[in-house]
Amino acid sequence: MKVDVLLGLQWGDEGKGKIVDVLTPKYDIIARFQGGPNAGHTLIFDGQKHVLHTIPSGVFRPGTKNVVGNGVVIDPVIFKREITQLIAAGVDPRPNLLISRRAHLILPTHRLLDAASEQAKGKAKIGSTLKGIGPTYMDKTGRNGLRVGDLTSGKFEERYDALKAKHLGLLAQFPNFTFDLASVEAEWHEAVNELRELQLIDTEHYLNEALDAGKRVLAEGAQGAMLDIDFGTYPFVTSSNTIAAGACNGLGVGPGRIGEVIGIFKAYCTRVGSGPFPTELLDETGEALRQAGGEFGATTGRPRRCGWLDLVQLRYACRVNGVTQLAMMKADILSGFDKIPVCHSYVHEGEQIPNLPFGIEPDEVTPVFSDHKGWQEDLTGVTAEAEFPESLSTYIDMVEREVDTPIKVISVGPDRAQTIKR
Ligand code: IMP
Repeated sequence: MKVDVLLGLQWGDEGKGKIVDVLTPKYDIIARFQGGPNAGHTLIFDGQKHVLHTIPSGVFRPGTKNVVGNGVVIDPVIFKREITQLIAAGVDPRPNLLISRRAHLILPTHRLLDAASEQAKGKAKIGSTLKGIGPTYMDKTGRNGLRVGDLTSGKFEERYDALKAKHLGLLAQFPNFTFDLASVEAEWHEAVNELRELQLIDTEHYLNEALDAGKRVLAEGAQGAMLDIDFGTYPFVTSSNTIAAGACNGLGVGPGRIGEVIGIFKAYCTRVGSGPFPTELLDETGEALRQAGGEFGATTGRPRRCGWLDLVQLRYACRVNGVTQLAMMKADILSGFDKIPVCHSYVHEGEQIPNLPFGIEPDEVTPVFSDHKGWQEDLTGVTAEAEFPESLSTYIDMVEREVDTPIKVISVGPDRAQTIKR
């Protein structure tokens, strides 16, 4: 069997959690391959809302196994809190939760370093979620990190103390940054003790053997293509490979084992944090989209920046991910506009171009829009494609044509039930 990969094609918050949840019945295993508690995957069903940060979105389906792969970074405190909240909601994820020994741990001092670095950057800050993601991946590639497997090595405390000492040395370089480590450290060690009791395994063997045995696996991406460390709007990105290739090194499966690549995008565009966003709306229309779409961060509560759909960006994301099918989210939020501008090309160095160039700052590109006819109908009760207003159908056709990829799912509301498969 092959691993299907599901990922965000914009700047995150496309609605991946909902689609993983809708697709889960087709899969035996859901596996997270990168990112960490910077993610916030929202699932709504039976009138209840759940937000997952590190735990895969398959936990609500009985019998589905959930793998936290080696590419993920884990904050034991947030992980413990997520498990506690799930248990309180009537779902104990622990029997079906498998954690890679190779996944790296976020230490309290990683979070402090994240905050100190952002503070020092001032106006140039990344707008990080301050969960310690960047410093943890820096220690991973710098070969200093602490991994889940170290928890049972007998040398954990020694390694922790050595890394903490290194971090304290780095923090001393930020004289204006004050912190109280002792208060968060005790909680972290307590959470580590609980993490040690969970199923810590070699997930690369588990997954490959499961595939050999005919099990169906879905790799669940976090963030989005434009936040990818290589292909995103660097340096305003996260510190992992969010694109489909990340599933191979974040899970330990070969490229030949990748099957469908399912790309999720919103019918418009949003971004949280700093960095370029060519189609951003800084006026009342942007505010209208924010309010209608409830565009506030699931992890930080920050208002999301909103703008029109950017087909240059989407085309690029389809290309670098090798997307084989698309899911278009939040079509219902666009109801009520007379016309919907869509960006199909950029003007760059005096030329109109269809492909995303190296830099997309405002002084580098100007988006070129064409107006699409809007629709007035409320879509939230629509249950079949035949009920779509004509201008929604032509919007869908236009996107498929522009990015040369079929749209297989249209989402018309946050609930599991408000999903139309084509
Ligand atoms: P970090 O990953 O916390 O370091 O944040 C780096 C950038 O990625 C910031 O602009 C964040 O707002 C953004 N970011 C990180 N995770 C997510 C996410 O899950 N959804 C949307 N934006 C994210």
